[in-house]
Amino acid sequence: MYDNWEELEKSIINCKKCKLCQNRTNIVFGTGNKEADLMFIGEGPGADEDKQGLPFVGKAGKLMNEAFKGIGINREEVYIANIVKCRPPQNRVPEQDEAEACLNYLRNQVILVKPKIIVLLGSTALKNILGKEYGITSARGKWLEKKGIKYMPTWHPAALLRDENKKIEFWKDLKEVRKELDK
Ligand code: URA
Ligand code: SF4
Repeated sequence: MYDNWEELEKSIINCKKCKLCQNRTNIVFGTGNKEADLMFIGEGPGADEDKQGLPFVGKAGKLMNEAFKGIGINREEVYIANIVKCRPPQNRVPEQDEAEACLNYLRNQVILVKPKIIVLLGSTALKNILGKEYGITSARGKWLEKKGIKYMPTWHPAALLRDENKKIEFWKDLKEVRKELDK
């Protein structure tokens, strides 16, 4: 673990800790306010993210921007990162060995940001952060506290594109986050 961003960022350049290094264009480290109260964790980069080296800049990112606007926060105010930093082929779910290889970077990011609240976007974020025993369908919308951080699991924005009900639940969950931030 590194106690500063410079060393952490330097440590990931040219990372080859898992096979996802083979097809990446850019490592998508994470972006935003390094002292944010609120952090969002997604799954992994898609094609647009891989191209630009930034998280949530494609279709799912547009939805996230709407969500930020909807709860009255600027994207620049929060910190955004993913479970894996390199794009899985065909956007498949990251495999166990890949997530495990990459998770220390994210853990270090969380330690440096010290957020009060972390929103877990979808099953991959939930299972890798809080444990495999959790399922997104039953865990979403409920606060979970661990080591002084409040976690809100919710749907991944990509899931909303396919299901109107999930959209309603996603908004409900984000409103809970807004309420908690205002406390
Ligand atoms: N989906 C994710 O989980 N993360 C991104 O950065 C983009 C899409
Ligand atoms: Fe390294 Fe993570 Fe990329 Fe794997 S996904 S090569 S562990 S940065």
